[in-house]
Amino acid sequence: ITVFVPCDAAALAVGADKVAAAISREIEMRGVDARVVRNGSRGLLWLEPMVEVRTEHGRIAYGPVRPGDVPGLFAAGFLEGGAHPLCQGRTRDIPFLRNQTRLTFARCGVTDPLSLEDFRGYSGLKGLEKALTMSPGEIVAAVTESGLRGRGGAGFPTGIKWKTVLDAPGTTKYIVCNADEGDSGTFSDRMVMEGDPFMLIEGMIIAGMATGATKGYVYTRSEYPHAIATMRQAITIAREANLLGLSILGSGRAFDMEVREGAGAYVCGEETSLLNSLEGKRGIVRAKPPLPALQGLFGCPTVVNNVISLASVPVILDRGPTFYRDFGVGRSHGTIPIQLAGNVKHSGLYETAFGLSLGEIVNDIGGGTLSGRPVKAVQVGGPLGAYFPPSLFDTIFDYEAFAARDGLIGHAGIVVFDDTADMLKQARFAMEFCAIESCGKCTPCRIGSIRGVETVDRIAHGIEPEQNKALLADLCNTMKFGSLCALGGFTPYPVMSALKHFPEDFVPAPVKEAAE
Ligand code: NAI
Ligand code: SF4
Repeated sequence: ITVFVPCDAAALAVGADKVAAAISREIEMRGVDARVVRNGSRGLLWLEPMVEVRTEHGRIAYGPVRPGDVPGLFAAGFLEGGAHPLCQGRTRDIPFLRNQTRLTFARCGVTDPLSLEDFRGYSGLKGLEKALTMSPGEIVAAVTESGLRGRGGAGFPTGIKWKTVLDAPGTTKYIVCNADEGDSGTFSDRMVMEGDPFMLIEGMIIAGMATGATKGYVYTRSEYPHAIATMRQAITIAREANLLGLSILGSGRAFDMEVREGAGAYVCGEETSLLNSLEGKRGIVRAKPPLPALQGLFGCPTVVNNVISLASVPVILDRGPTFYRDFGVGRSHGTIPIQLAGNVKHSGLYETAFGLSLGEIVNDIGGGTLSGRPVKAVQVGGPLGAYFPPSLFDTIFDYEAFAARDGLIGHAGIVVFDDTADMLKQARFAMEFCAIESCGKCTPCRIGSIRGVETVDRIAHGIEPEQNKALLADLCNTMKFGSLCALGGFTPYPVMSALKHFPEDFVPAPVKEAAE
């Protein structure tokens, strides 16, 4: 009998280690023939720690399990999938999971993250094996044909980026995986690194073979200690199995990689700032051009891709570009791991083809707010993303549809707020966040964000509110068009969307209190 207890940080945060220990104790005490496997998370975070038991009817889920629940679970015959108030039935039948299209996250939560045998058993390395039979140009063409766009947030076509690096002159080239995942409410990169690290390794090797790079770096944040540890262990295992090194799977082609840890600055997720940090310099944004694809790490042609972009590549090569391309809408092809967070009933990771409406995602999949109060706003795309009111819930999850409504999908994080949220405070927070995280290189961001906080404060205190609202809009315009990178350039999205959609919150505090 196999019992699965996740080792993902989200499960650990709510006591998964203690639950695993309690289950092991009970197994020993009862002398039953069972073992505990630590898997990744399935992404149903409101059910964590979600324990599964493999039975002849498939895997049965129980959650959220607390250590104190364990004796009761055993008494209820949980090792045979017995009935219990925490039983969620067959894992794959849970609606949140059943209705997903899991291409990238197909293995996450199913396998032991550090078992190469498990990885192979669930289609792992098939993409790489295919790539080994192709020329670099053919691999790049397949990725281009798939329509994959950068999942870090900008949505730039991955194949075109790879072609730029492939065609760039130079013998030393690099693959840099941006795993700095700083957006609020996002955790898909972390889930891959903790739940299916070999998939990322496979994607990076393929990227190396496609572009002529033989060295890769995963740059991640110090706030992700479990992801760092798991990735490092996976890299060691991959090296021992000749998956990394001088001759990948005996092909005679070389690729190796390592994990580098950042110190937690949000701006180090910006690709040029990240490269500076990786080179041991201060994480300050570089001017573009030159593009990193031409002059990146140590001045060499460099692919900088987000975790999910790289992790999407193995399945594209394995199943073919057309298979992947056929999912989605418009110019947004394939699937996207949507991350639901904040005040939402069903928080977690939901991988689906592009094309659902925002309302379907928040209300049907997310189940509305956790507090049970009406949804007031959702912020899509991290702290630099726009706030959407329910009146815009018909917006389709697609890069262009969001841009048309002055928003962005970003890294696909959605943070839900109920009707107690004060959108003026949220606008102030956006400016304050920018002020704290600014790298200081350009004036609109460095100074503008501080003036932004002051201007929002003046509106809150009823000081010339109309003039200050106009000033705030003007300031946002300057930041949007005059900033060097997305931190200063995108901060206007949350600020202006809050002002536009929730004007009733932009009144002096005493007026608000009286209205309440
Ligand atoms: P960008 O639009 O400047 O660039 C996108 C990518 O395409 C870059 O890698 C750039 O080097 C590359 N590129 C552009 N033209 C190219 C060409 N001709 N050939 C080859 N490569 C080319 O956007 P940027 O500043 O890289 O990213 C901004 C986005 O980052 C925002 O949309 C935001 O959503 C997202 N973001 C994500 C975060 C996260 O936690 N994942 C955190 C903060 C922001
Ligand atoms: Fe630095 Fe802000 Fe300018 Fe970006 S916009 S380069 S973070 S000062």
